[in-house]
Amino acid sequence: MTRPPKPPARPGKVSLWRYARLFRQDILSAQPARLYRAWMAEFRTPFFHSFLCNDPELIETVLKERPDDFPKSDRIREGLAPLLGNSVFVTNGAVWKRQRRIIDPAFEGGRLRDTFPAMWDAGVAAVERLGNLADGRPLEIEAQTSHMAADVIFRTLFSIPIEDATAGAVFAKFKAHQRAAPVLNLGALLPLPRWFPRFHARRTRQTAREIRALITDLTARRMAEIEAGRAPDDLATKIMTTPDPETGQLFDTAEMVDQVAIFFLAGHETSASALAWSLYLLAMYPDWQDRVAAEAAQGIDPEKIYFSTLSKLKLARDVFREAMRLYPPVPMMVREATRGERFRDRAVPKGSQIVLSPWHLHRHARLWERPDDFDPARFKTDNGKACLRNAYMPFSKGQRVCPGSGFAMAEGPLLLAMLVRAFRFELVEGRPAMPVAHLTVRGRDGIWLRLTRRVD
Ligand code: HEM
Repeated sequence: MTRPPKPPARPGKVSLWRYARLFRQDILSAQPARLYRAWMAEFRTPFFHSFLCNDPELIETVLKERPDDFPKSDRIREGLAPLLGNSVFVTNGAVWKRQRRIIDPAFEGGRLRDTFPAMWDAGVAAVERLGNLADGRPLEIEAQTSHMAADVIFRTLFSIPIEDATAGAVFAKFKAHQRAAPVLNLGALLPLPRWFPRFHARRTRQTAREIRALITDLTARRMAEIEAGRAPDDLATKIMTTPDPETGQLFDTAEMVDQVAIFFLAGHETSASALAWSLYLLAMYPDWQDRVAAEAAQGIDPEKIYFSTLSKLKLARDVFREAMRLYPPVPMMVREATRGERFRDRAVPKGSQIVLSPWHLHRHARLWERPDDFDPARFKTDNGKACLRNAYMPFSKGQRVCPGSGFAMAEGPLLLAMLVRAFRFELVEGRPAMPVAHLTVRGRDGIWLRLTRRVD
């Protein structure tokens, strides 16, 4: 049976310069194949010294046991600052802790229940939009999933659909920014030397400024509505009215703008990528697609939408999970060692980069059975269950775990089920998808599918 697409690994040793070039093109195919078997790999260049850790115990140490000893590098913050300011994604220490104390309650289980109807509405709108395109012509599906995930974010955060003028403008500007800004390429997450070409072009700064102006407008309007006592009860209101339990302080408008920028970026690119790969995999494996469609037809009653619908979409959940195993939307994360360490009997000097790679961990040949196969049923096996605990981290883990993980695990399976209930997805001959890592894992030339309506 054909396997899901996987980028070719880099053949053998290459010069530093070639590595840097490969790295800029695509961080995944720049890596050697041995990383799919190694517990740890050391990379030493004149500019950085890094350790990629696949050993589950090391990952535990870095992310869960001593996360404060392995913060994000300041250089990352500098790289992303034009767009993200001081958002929770890039801060460390006391500032970061305070931001999480305010943000986390908005994403807890109970609030998810309140957020669910807005996700559902975004799903209905997506099915309607795609209905006009479901005539069997080839369609680039990432653009579509990106649109629907952006819609979900605006509806849940600000109670506005993507058709709203400001929401639409933010979405359009982000797309332009991504095209113009390799600074949002994963390469930006490595603290390369300052002279390394970074394309912090004037244009990038300009689009970042424009995006922030639009978000400031949304946030300031919301602040005024809260003060006037007529704000809708959505995620933005929840976050802006939640005082820090330790100091009683609220986010001011400027601080909230930074958070909205990362909610939009982290929340829509990632979900869009996971949904697009899920659909591609279902097109590759039509048996699975039919099973998900049958489950959705049974489980979803469009007249009565409850949060509990989600518990009926178990196959959709397993497919979404398996898609994120094979194509983790955030393929790698980088931390910095703040002091000398000993990892697997090797000295890790202070200042080294610690690379955690869901991409390699999720396909690790010594941890997963048939690591490169698509098998959503694997999570019911002993191996699958064990790996889910110690070799699966699409949302990272520990104190810096993605605050949107519960949100994404509601949104993803729900939208997947709604889409597959309405349409049949098929591969387009001659247009196979090939994963590359930009900020998230995308198709090198997009992800192309044909859609037709399913006959009930
Ligand atoms: C399939 C969807 C998603 C995936 C795979 C994902 C994955 C991740 C990962 C791996 C991180 C950790 C990054 C790092 O430490 O370097 C992260 C952080 C984050 N995510 Fe998500 N995410 C998803 C959806 C969302 C959503 C829907 C939101 C919000 C609406 C969100 C908001 C954030 C924020 C604010 C952070 C920074 C947390 C911190 O550093 O403390 N994510 N996400």
